[in-house]
Amino acid sequence: MRFRTLDQARDLSGRRALVRVDFNVPMAEGRVSDDTRLRAALPTIRWLTERGAKVALLAHFDRPKGKRVDSMSLKPVVAPLSALLGRPVAWSDDCVGPEAEATVNGLEPGGVALLENLRFHAGEEANDEGFARQLAALGDLYVDDAFSAAHRAHASTEAVAHLLPAYAGLSMQRELEALDAALGSPKRPVIGIVGGSKVSTKLDLLKNLVTKLDKLAIGGGMANTFLYAQGHDVGASYCETELAETARDIIRLAGRNNCKLFLPLDIVVAEKMAPGAPARVRGLGEVDEHERILDAGPETVARLKRAMDNSATLIWNGPLGVFEMPPFDAATVEAARHAAALAKAGRLIAVAGGGDTVAALHHAGVAGDFTFVSTAGGAFLEWMEGKALPGVDALKG
Ligand code: 3PG
Repeated sequence: MRFRTLDQARDLSGRRALVRVDFNVPMAEGRVSDDTRLRAALPTIRWLTERGAKVALLAHFDRPKGKRVDSMSLKPVVAPLSALLGRPVAWSDDCVGPEAEATVNGLEPGGVALLENLRFHAGEEANDEGFARQLAALGDLYVDDAFSAAHRAHASTEAVAHLLPAYAGLSMQRELEALDAALGSPKRPVIGIVGGSKVSTKLDLLKNLVTKLDKLAIGGGMANTFLYAQGHDVGASYCETELAETARDIIRLAGRNNCKLFLPLDIVVAEKMAPGAPARVRGLGEVDEHERILDAGPETVARLKRAMDNSATLIWNGPLGVFEMPPFDAATVEAARHAAALAKAGRLIAVAGGGDTVAALHHAGVAGDFTFVSTAGGAFLEWMEGKALPGVDALKG
């Protein structure tokens, strides 16, 4: 994968860098409640300011649908960002037009400004050429550091990249390199774990992965649909019975592509889905009509751990059970700890992503030991589905 990187940008002193970041951060009572995404942008901002660039930050927040919505202003980001950077951050009440121009042009070399929510203008989501030209008028170069918004073909992620010299920021670069190492050109054998409740939301993902991976373990609620499709009774479990034929198609596609599928060998069941509910381990086909499958069983986890031992790369999206409700977190926690230990010992490249997965790895206490954990939601999934990401394609050199 080739894309233009920041080290190719020359003579930055006094030049205006238009930097697309993802500041779509959790907020509570008008304050930033999780600054992970602000921290992710710091290396690129510092890299540019240290070289004397004037940095204009472009971002969206929430979905105001093309009009100004005061509760969706980015202004609450100014103070925490400025504290993290240790320097003032200028603010413009609009992301285009005279106020934005005056704010950006008025920066000292090495100064930083944040511009108001891009999505207050309908032209942003419409990928409108005229709106992109207004954005481009604010910069001499464009840097995209928002992988998590790269699945959107919007003016600030796509059209503007064709109007200015365009580069990937340092976070974007790190993410693309890690993802390429996991799925683009991975060290083999490569094993995937896909979990979560619904097959229906992960069809494209499963179909792509079985053509690329050597092994794929299916867990979570979606495994019930596969078990049902193979003729096993799943009792009162969540199951998309209408997708049984699709599940069989995926099993056949995996066979044709020499991808070894791992479906549960045993399962953990309970009559109630509640924290601390009495749980029992069952073999396949031993589920009573009132029981629900809520986790993978110990034999399944033991086989998955052996499969990881014999792999060079792991890519993981989705938990193996209802990890939010112990004891149904056991399989996810044990598998995550094993992957993390292998990664720490340099025996496995372990890459994970997606909201639930990140939460599950934090729950297991091992997110920091994985080789790379992507906090991108939709963009990570679309990339795993093998889809082109417009914000990344626009940076290809
Ligand atoms: C995200 O939070 O996943 C990104 O910022 C994209 O946001 P969106 O789904 O509103 O486009």
